Amino acid sequence: MKETSSSHKWVFDEKVAARFTNEAEQHIPLYWQTIELSVETIKTSFNTNAKILEIGCATGNTLAYLFSQGFSHLIGCDSSPAMLDQAYQKLQHFQIPLVEINHFPIQYAPFEVVMCNWTMHFIKEREQYIQAIFEGLKSGGLFIMTDKTIQSDAMKMLYHNFKLKQGLSLTQIEQKERNLEGVLVPYSLEQNITMLKQTGFINLEILSAAFGFVTFLAWKP
Ligand SMILES: C[S@@+](CC[C@H](N)C(=O)[O-])C[C@H]1O[C@@H](n2cnc3c(N)ncnc32)[C@H](O)[C@@H]1O
Repeated sequence: MKETSSSHKWVFDEKVAARFTNEAEQHIPLYWQTIELSVETIKTSFNTNAKILEIGCATGNTLAYLFSQGFSHLIGCDSSPAMLDQAYQKLQHFQIPLVEINHFPIQYAPFEVVMCNWTMHFIKEREQYIQAIFEGLKSGGLFIMTDKTIQSDAMKMLYHNFKLKQGLSLTQIEQKERNLEGVLVPYSLEQNITMLKQTGFINLEILSAAFGFVTFLAWKP
């Protein structure tokens, strides 16, 4: 039997793709604020010609926002054909290459900026992927990563309260948590920082954080 988002393991299938923005707003703290803040950060150090890769571009919300802010040298990649179908529709007039791939799209490197918001926690060979990102960035390049980190019980409670305020029921919250078990695998805050440092990134900073969802800035020397 094919597993879907409503039964066992979480998959980015057609059903999730069709309701993705709504799902993201309900389940991801600071979803739009993080996208806006990431782009504001890029603007502080790069001009609009910067070549930017988004890993896990999903249905294209971030790429569309980047484009609206004047950035046009954009590439998106995602491993889910269903998510990319939605992205194609949203971005059809923007001529942004969208690549279906589950590893780093080295053929498009080097980049000034690589963004990976809410995606790295789905990637199994994370250290290798981060290494490939580092190698694919130009010197002086910026890596922006937002990931769910391991939450304490207290943080989990605050996160559940956030979701309840978004209109979700306890049953829906618990169902999604079960579906994501073993699929979304968070690292601790310390593990993320160590991984980024050991790869060679410098000047690590936290751009924002809420309920254990952390946006890291990391620079290639
Ligand atoms: C929560 S969504 C990302 C949201 C998106 N960054 C945004 O700003 O709206 C996670 C995405 O990661 C993708 N994904 C999971 N594993 C991947 C991999 N190995 N390579 C590329 N994309 C992956 C999923 O298909 C999904 O579209």
